[in-house]
Amino acid sequence: MRTLISGGIVVTASGSQPADVLVDGERIHAVVEPGTDPASWQADRVIDATDRYVIPGGIDGHTHMEMPFGGTFSVDDFASGTRAAAWGGTTTIVDFAVQKKGTSLRETLDTWHGKADGKCAIDYGFHMIVSDVNEQTLKEMDALGGEGISSFKLFMAYPGVFYATDGEILQAMQHASDSGALIMMHAENGIAIDVLVGQALSRGHTDPRYHGITRPPDLEGEATSRAIKLAGVAGAPLYIVHLSCDEALTAVAMARTEGRRVFAETCPQYLFLTDDAMAGPGFEGAKYVCSPPLRPSWHLPKLWNGLRTDALSVVSTDHCPFCFNEEKQLGQGDFAKIPNGIPGVEHRVDLVYQGVVAGEISLARWVEVLSTTPARMFGLYPKKGEIAAGSDADIVIYDPRARQTLSARTHHMAVDYSAYEGREITGRVQTVLSRGRVILDDGRYDGAEGHGQFLSRSTCQLLG
Ligand code: URP
Ligand code: ZN
Ligand code: ZN
Repeated sequence: MRTLISGGIVVTASGSQPADVLVDGERIHAVVEPGTDPASWQADRVIDATDRYVIPGGIDGHTHMEMPFGGTFSVDDFASGTRAAAWGGTTTIVDFAVQKKGTSLRETLDTWHGKADGKCAIDYGFHMIVSDVNEQTLKEMDALGGEGISSFKLFMAYPGVFYATDGEILQAMQHASDSGALIMMHAENGIAIDVLVGQALSRGHTDPRYHGITRPPDLEGEATSRAIKLAGVAGAPLYIVHLSCDEALTAVAMARTEGRRVFAETCPQYLFLTDDAMAGPGFEGAKYVCSPPLRPSWHLPKLWNGLRTDALSVVSTDHCPFCFNEEKQLGQGDFAKIPNGIPGVEHRVDLVYQGVVAGEISLARWVEVLSTTPARMFGLYPKKGEIAAGSDADIVIYDPRARQTLSARTHHMAVDYSAYEGREITGRVQTVLSRGRVILDDGRYDGAEGHGQFLSRSTCQLLG
């Protein structure tokens, strides 16, 4: 099947230009001057992209489909979650396989292949959450590179569940330094947070807003600085996940200025929502409980500045959906029992585009933080994250002038609320190609469960 995408403005991380894109089967054949005669390319299909942006498909490097958490599971499985991702212009996810204490990484990986293989509408890879750092796990971390797992998430939060001590973190980082793996860090001081949570509950402070109050920015900043120092001692690169506040951003920016191999992502919820949401009427605030928590409004421009200056390299969603009327209710009367997580895999491309509309970031930077840098960070470039000859034809045709209103009534995630209910935005995904197949066109979905292939990833490509 030969496709011609004609008349659009091709936007990549290095800039934009009017160009036609020739797709042959699953790959991009060439990017050429506009005006291609369909007959000269023997095109089976022509997609008119006039007045549209043609961008590489989004890569969401942080999702949690069917994730076990807080005694329940996130409600999108790999079928519904990847379908929703496709609606929103994301053509690759890297999800987290979660090691249960007492279980090997091998078993964990097999379990996650069992959940995802044959289900996904778009291509997918796995990171591995390591919750049991021991000799066996460390050996397995070294071995899993051969299975396409090149990044491992550790937690400084959630004592008794995912938490790793500083000593365990250091050991894991030392292994990563030898193997080339990337350590991803949930940087919040969980030991101190648990003290604050216990104190709040003993005073009868049980509402969702206390989730934010007991996880102050200083405890994210402190953990971020500590993780950076530990990575320095181990000689390992470090990727801070879901960075939410200026305290942590300052630590990352300083480390990068010093030339350390430290990277960080933020998420749309930290760029668009504030801690006010957790103080909504009744139990509404539970919808917005995630960790790290949403922050006061003054952090938001700091994060946008971090994106502009490359202190923040990536925007991922940390998509972890729990229904308000079901799973979130587990936290009625005790904010600490609210499953942590916010849905968002469908709206990342659109939301970050609002940063372009507002003049916060350039078009090229939009593509860079959503696609090209995640591809490089997680060992997928140039197969993914690029519009160039030889790359997979994962392509989004984006209408920059369309208007839409975000709502649970119209979204495709399997969750009963939207964190952005009623928000009016500019821009909309018009057409999505996944490895050359048109899976979405003008509001018609034509994807298929099982079209998505597992991506065996190489190591981080940004380490020079
Ligand atoms: O609240 C969050 N972030 N839930 C998902 C788990 C994690 O820590 O990423
Ligand atoms: Zn986390
Ligand atoms: Zn997460």
